[in-house]
Amino acid sequence: ISRAKTSELVDRTKEHGYNLIVLSAAAQGIGRAAAMAFAKEGAQVTATDINGEKLKELDGIQGIRTKVVDVTKKDQVEALAKEHDHVDVLFNVAGFVHHGTILDCEEDDWDFTMNVNVRSMYLMSKAFLPKMLAKKSGNIINMASVASSIKGVVKRCVYSTSKAAVIGLTKSIAADFIEQGIRCNCVCPGTVDTPSLRGRIQAQPDPEQAYKDFMARQKTGRLCTAEEVAHLCVYLASDESAYVTGTEHIIDGGWRL
Ligand SMILES: NC(=O)c1ccc[n+]([C@@H]2O[C@H](COP(=O)([O-])OP(=O)(O)OC[C@H]3O[C@@H](n4cnc5c(N)ncnc54)[C@H](O)[C@@H]3O)[C@@H](O)[C@H]2O)c1
Repeated sequence: ISRAKTSELVDRTKEHGYNLIVLSAAAQGIGRAAAMAFAKEGAQVTATDINGEKLKELDGIQGIRTKVVDVTKKDQVEALAKEHDHVDVLFNVAGFVHHGTILDCEEDDWDFTMNVNVRSMYLMSKAFLPKMLAKKSGNIINMASVASSIKGVVKRCVYSTSKAAVIGLTKSIAADFIEQGIRCNCVCPGTVDTPSLRGRIQAQPDPEQAYKDFMARQKTGRLCTAEEVAHLCVYLASDESAYVTGTEHIIDGGWRL
């Protein structure tokens, strides 16, 4: 992270006295790494998650305020938005990985995944956009994945479908509000070493083989770290990316090649 970027982020804070970033799924993994990276850059961060216990670990970090929010619940999302007079950046991170082909995916799996991965971003963006429009300035970042319209991945049927929808939502918001000072981008990681990834490996009948399979698809010979994704998020959240909107930012160590 260059010093220039830091000073630009800080410069932008002059308008409100600080730069306010709201994000979901901040208790662990990429969301947590991003919350900490934003705070390190001098932003004021509202870090939310459904998991209050884990979220507490962020309490006391300068610049971070925590709040328990289930992003699939409209009333909780609207209450969160009401707490903020303005927001500079909304980062929609929450997502769930269902493992399986279309034949393994029951209607409940389909509905649950689409609800957490897509409907939540619709609810959050709809709740926060009016505040951004009032200032003619705003920035939404959505967490998608390479497993989406970018790459067909085995046993990721509803997950990939949901993340393709996130890319569509991102481009739609970018196109609709570009003239009102809003930009919207999404992040498309490959395989990131996070607690949920570790959990998915452990849940397999043969975890050792499952880990080997994950590693076999890493052309770089290693997994991506949550911190590496957070660096990209800092760029997208800062004015250094002011001319960037409606795009999917791939960070996959060449997995899609
Ligand atoms: N880890 C990867 O390999 C990878 C790759 C590509 C994309 N992603 C995406 O990145 C995002 C974060 O994944 P991760 O692996 O870093 O995180 P994770 O799965 O380890 O953590 C997800 C967090 O989301 C929270 N959460 C779940 N449901 C929620 C809800 N309804 N409301 C609020 N919070 C909720 C959980 O409590 C948890 O803290 C997801 O959207 C995921 O699909 C991850």
